[in-house]
Amino acid sequence: MTGRARWILVLAVSFLLITGCDQRGPDGEQVDPKEKIVIKFSHVVAEDTPKGQAARRFARLVQQRTGGRVEVQVFPNSTLYKDGEEMDALQQGAVQMIAPTTSKLSCLAPQWQLLDLPYLFENKEQVYQALDGEIGKKLFATLEPHNIHPLAFWDNGFKHMTNSKRPLVHPRDFAGLTFRVMINSRVLEEQFRCLGARATGLPFSDVYSTLAARQVDGQENTMSNIYSQRFYEVQPYLTVSNHGYMGYVVLTNAAFWRSLPPDIRKIIEETMTEVTLWEREQAASLNEKNFKQIESSGKVKIHTLTPPERIEWQAAFTPLYRQFKPVIGNELVEAVLRMKNYSSSVSRGHATGWLFKQFPESNTGGVRAGKL
Ligand code: LMR
Repeated sequence: MTGRARWILVLAVSFLLITGCDQRGPDGEQVDPKEKIVIKFSHVVAEDTPKGQAARRFARLVQQRTGGRVEVQVFPNSTLYKDGEEMDALQQGAVQMIAPTTSKLSCLAPQWQLLDLPYLFENKEQVYQALDGEIGKKLFATLEPHNIHPLAFWDNGFKHMTNSKRPLVHPRDFAGLTFRVMINSRVLEEQFRCLGARATGLPFSDVYSTLAARQVDGQENTMSNIYSQRFYEVQPYLTVSNHGYMGYVVLTNAAFWRSLPPDIRKIIEETMTEVTLWEREQAASLNEKNFKQIESSGKVKIHTLTPPERIEWQAAFTPLYRQFKPVIGNELVEAVLRMKNYSSSVSRGHATGWLFKQFPESNTGGVRAGKL
């Protein structure tokens, strides 16, 4: 072969490799570009968080398992759509997947505020029991009329308080402070009113700048968000309060979902189940790890609520349960309280505690510190 012919051959092979790239799946299987399914998955948190890592893992596994027929493109950190935009983008088909916190679904159905009630769950086991059972099914059903198909509940553990003014130990310490809360949930706003503070709903992407500019005094979040968004650098006080649950719902556009071939839907569902279990483990370990990193930064004075302090906080939140039971629906609130009572009585042989005193008819269980 002449030098010139060899060059032509090299160029031709390179061209084929470059242009052929998109048309082959990871297993080398040929994928017709016209058949390729692109799923844009938009979310608002950093990549190194439970949700960020799970979205990437899901994308990689689906691409592998469909032989490249499905490409999941992940857009983290509100780069494509932020809070207040991503739901519309999903419903209109501009993106095919999002994973907002359950609180943010309250704009579609008020029932989702159930999960915002402070100290509703005592630990993760109760959370999973509720979300993976009848309660989760009832919440999923509220999305049907909205062109939204829910795929899974992902986890981010329990929230804690940060602020720039003072240690928050007793409810009275909140007096006069202003807090950022997640958008769409009246329960979260009222939660701070119960403590004598004010609350304002802001998109996640604006939280750091708002805190840094001291436009609000504090916020509530999980350790992974406090760490990855560097809130701890501008919020010198952290109370480990475990006062509320923060979880996600992975959502897809219902019309898009129906348009997918059944074998692809099956792969997505199976992969989602597997990634969900993995995500829940990640949430626990990453939140622990990030807490230690915040602690060792030396930038934050940390207070962990003692059991009596926790009871004081719970008492301050009592009016919320009465106020929101009719909004959320008696049935759902009662279902969680019954479930908690059952798990408490099984594990301890009797039912006692704060909620029982507030709702004797529910006969719910007592108080136990949740994990991070
Ligand atoms: C927040 O807005 O604080 C969180 O919802 C962000 C997230 O998705 O974890």
